[in-house]
Order: sequence, then structure tokens, then C-alpha cells
Amino acid sequence: ARITLRQLLDHAAEHDYGVPAFNINNMEQALAIAEAADKTDSPVIIQASRGARSYAHDVMLKRMMDAIIEIYPHIPVCIHLDHGNGPATCMTAIQAGFTSVMMDGSLEEDGKTPADWDYNVGVTKTVTDMAHLGGISVEGELGVLGSLETGEGDKEDGHGAEGKLSTEQLLTDPEEAVKFVKETKVDALAIAMGTSHGAYKFTRQPDGEILAMHVIEEIHRRLPDTHLVMHGSSSVPQDLQDIINQYGGEMPQTWGVPVEEIQRGIKNGVRKINIDTDNRMAMTGQIRRILSEHPGEFDPRKYLKPAREAMTKLCIERLEQFNTAGHA
Ligand code: G3H
Ligand code: 13P
Ligand code: NA
Ligand code: ZN
Repeated sequence: ARITLRQLLDHAAEHDYGVPAFNINNMEQALAIAEAADKTDSPVIIQASRGARSYAHDVMLKRMMDAIIEIYPHIPVCIHLDHGNGPATCMTAIQAGFTSVMMDGSLEEDGKTPADWDYNVGVTKTVTDMAHLGGISVEGELGVLGSLETGEGDKEDGHGAEGKLSTEQLLTDPEEAVKFVKETKVDALAIAMGTSHGAYKFTRQPDGEILAMHVIEEIHRRLPDTHLVMHGSSSVPQDLQDIINQYGGEMPQTWGVPVEEIQRGIKNGVRKINIDTDNRMAMTGQIRRILSEHPGEFDPRKYLKPAREAMTKLCIERLEQFNTAGHA
């Protein structure tokens, strides 16, 4: 069944679990997530970015979401817009059948310029005012994602801050978080504490210096009833780096967010955990392996099926680790 983010995260808070939000761009990823949710009896958040919407088309995404709900009617699915960059993008997502939208006003509409307070509150409130009238949930973001090691925003995929960021920008201020939630009435709040999108988050195993989980604890203490969201939460597992590199890939050594840190977050109000990179790597590792072991192969199903299975396996692991399993 289709449910909103609010419904799902209220249930998660009541039962002390977190919900992974997995990104999709195509049928293989949609089916992989749904299979994982089905096998573990889990509710799940399937999210699509603006990039996914232009890659797959809104009509295709909508029909894929409808298909998942028809194939697995017993699985609660929240259909979420990841990183909406303005009210118009959020409204067209709602028209396309999303039950939840992220209005990411931490950056201006260009996706590059860190926004000021009035801009972020203004656009976010515009979206909550409209979305809530239709029973749609809204995620907002306060603070800018980026590295505490280098002061750089995301670089890889075109939605990250340009130029050097200060520690104040990179860490959500707990007092401001209280004000932001009160003024915007968001259903969930994404916070910044040193993670960034993509595979290259940390140059070493992260500690409290570069992954500031204490910020989450401080925000949760002041906002015990607000659902917190962690972006850039891929763990970038070593075995996935290794398989990609073993079969011709060239990914420099890197570190992601340890699952134990996310589990610590879940004890402190984190309810939505965004994961895309780990699934991209799981699929790519298998595609590289199959094509390298069977260079004569040219039927896409031969490599997409193992890719899908690797993604299902990763999704199952996270659904179990976040204690989502069994809560469908
Ligand atoms: O926000 C980052 C997600 O991984 C989506 O990435 O914008 O390349 O689709 P994307
Ligand atoms: P990763 O790149 O760490 O998977 O983060 C995904 C994300 O935050 C999507 O919004
Ligand atoms: Na999101
Ligand atoms: Zn994100």
C-alpha cells in the first residue's frame, strides 16, 4: 500500500526503528528494493531524484511505483521526491503521484549556492503549506552537506555547494533546528553532520571529528518528536570497492558511514536513512564481474539479474540492520 512519509516515520518512532530510503532510476532498482522489503516484511521508502525524473520520465516512474504497489500490496511504500530544489519541482512530483517530497532549501535553486535562513524557511514553508493541504509529507533540510575534512560540498553529481564551507555551515545548529521545524512545520528534518553524497565521503575510517553524530544527539534532545533524516548514508563497503576494482574498475580507496553510527543515530531520532551509492556499487560490481568473466555475453538480463540480486541483498542487510524488518 502507498503511505506517506509522516505515517511511516510516526510508526518507526513508536517502534524504535529506522527506514532506509533507497533511490531508483529504473525497473531493476525498483524491483530489487520491493523484493528486499517483501523478503523481510518491511515498509520502505523509494525515492527518486530530479535526475531520476529526467532519466526515466515521470510517467514511467509513476507506473513503476504503481506496479510495485500492485505486485506487493502488503508492503507499505512511501514514494518520495529526493532533493526537490524548489516549490515547482515539489508540486509536479505530487502531481506525478509522490506521497512525500523533499524541499531542499539548504541550497538555492541552482543547487550550488548555500541559502540564507529566509530563503530556506520561505521555500520550505511554501511547500509544506501546499503539500499538507493534500495530505502529502514534506522533508526539509537545514545545514549544508559536505566534508568536515576538506570543507568541500558534494562534487560528483551536480547538487553540492560550491566553494569552501565553514564548520558552522557543515553542522546543523540545534537551536536553529528547533526554530526551523516550528516555522516550517516539516514532517522530517534532514541535518548536516559531515556526510556527503557519493562514494568519497571520508579519506579514513571516520571518527567523531569528521562524522559529528553528537550533533544528532543534541538536536534529538531539543526536538524529541521530530523525525531526523541522514543523507549521504552509504557505508561504501570494502567488499564492494574490491569487487569493482578486481574486475577493471578504478575506484580509489574510500570510507563511508559505518552502519553502527547509523544505528546510534536511530537511537537518537534518526528515522530516514538515504542510501543510493551502496546500491549503485552493488550493481556495478556484478555487471563488471559478469562482463569480464563472460566477454561474449550480450543479453542485458544476464548481467542485470545478478546486479538486481546484489542490490536486493544490500537492501535486505540495511532493512535488518535498521530494525525495519518485520514492521510491514
Ligand atoms: O542525492 C543524491 C542521490 O544519490 C541521487 O543522485 O541526483 O545523481 O540521481 P542523482
Ligand atoms: P549516498 O550517496 O551516501 O548513498 O547518499 C544518498 C542520498 O543522500 C540521497 O539523497
Ligand atoms: Na530526501
Ligand atoms: Zn541526499
